[in-house]
Amino acid sequence: MRVFVAGASGAIGTRLVPQLIDRGHEVIGSSTSPESAERVRRLGAKPVLLDLLDAEAVRKAILAMQPDAIVHEATALADAKFTRNFDRTFAQTNRLRIEGTDNLLAAAREAGVERFVAQSFASYRNAREGGPVKTEDDPLDPSPVPSMREGSAAMAHLDRAVTEAGGIVLRYGLFYGAPNDGLIEPVRKRQFPIIGNGGGVSSWIHLDDAAAATVIALEHDGPAIYNIVDDEPAPAREWLPVYAEALGAKPPRHFPRWLARLVAGEAAVMMGTEARGASNAKAKRELGWQPRYASWRQGFRAAYASGAAADERGSQPTARTVQSQT
Ligand SMILES: NC(=O)c1ccc[n+]([C@@H]2O[C@H](COP(=O)([O-])OP(=O)(O)OC[C@H]3O[C@@H](n4cnc5c(N)ncnc54)[C@H](OP(=O)(O)O)[C@@H]3O)[C@@H](O)[C@H]2O)c1
Repeated sequence: MRVFVAGASGAIGTRLVPQLIDRGHEVIGSSTSPESAERVRRLGAKPVLLDLLDAEAVRKAILAMQPDAIVHEATALADAKFTRNFDRTFAQTNRLRIEGTDNLLAAAREAGVERFVAQSFASYRNAREGGPVKTEDDPLDPSPVPSMREGSAAMAHLDRAVTEAGGIVLRYGLFYGAPNDGLIEPVRKRQFPIIGNGGGVSSWIHLDDAAAATVIALEHDGPAIYNIVDDEPAPAREWLPVYAEALGAKPPRHFPRWLARLVAGEAAVMMGTEARGASNAKAKRELGWQPRYASWRQGFRAAYASGAAADERGSQPTARTVQSQT
């Protein structure tokens, strides 16, 4: 297939492009700067510069390229500064999830593109009640934390628009495996504490496993939503010490909820204490996908322990540099 990857130069895009090429696909990959385009070219894809927020440019590009499939992996988080206000941090990403998705879908419709796969997110979105692990059919949080409302609405829009158009939504877990991951520095500096009882559940996914699931999803018919997460959704009190250990950092500090609310805000408290994780049973069953790193327990060590992050940086000339701390 001729596959157009929007956001080919990002964390997931740079893992996805080589896997698509290995699978025999012809890949056209978009980015927004000449430096990123060069990265895409070195991965073996045909680079194009494209702003997904420019509807007419998107339309013209898709009509000209005539891809068989579109994969939307564009976000704007490389230089994001995480503050208490998630909606401010994610403002541009939210636009890419709403307007960017709509622009791509409209162009796909006009050009007769039949396959559409888009990036969504699995963690921190489910209703904070009942059991710790949720499926794609379980209800989303009806009252998100105020500073995450716009982000929740943007993801809900993407999920709805893509499936209504017959496409596939991949709700990835929290990515790890990139040497420049934004979590590395705060954990190293003990700035990422266990909050309260540390019971908030996160779902993780190694970037290579997320890319592999995406390649497989392209060969399936939609509409569908899949959680692309590993086998072990886990509370912060379990995964955070393992993450710190893999980095060779001191164990995380413990903050009571009131202090964390004061310092980091309500969203951090929700994620650290109340969040629910996601089940990958549907993706395994329907896509026949298996994560190579079944648990973050092995994955964090493989990605970060004993200089693995540095080694990976050496072997991934296309990965972003460390300057893009989020
Ligand atoms: N599920 C998750 O946990 C998750 C999801 C997404 C990101 N992240 C994390 O966030 C950090 C940054 O992500 P990232 O490295 O992928 O960078 P990013 O800044 O989020 O960029 C992702 C891709 O989107 C493209 N893009 C940005 N704005 C665009 C626009 N207006 N139109 C079209 N394309 C646009 C980028 O192109 P340029 O290269 O030209 O900017 C890049 O190819 C990483 O640590 C990553 O792991 C995590």
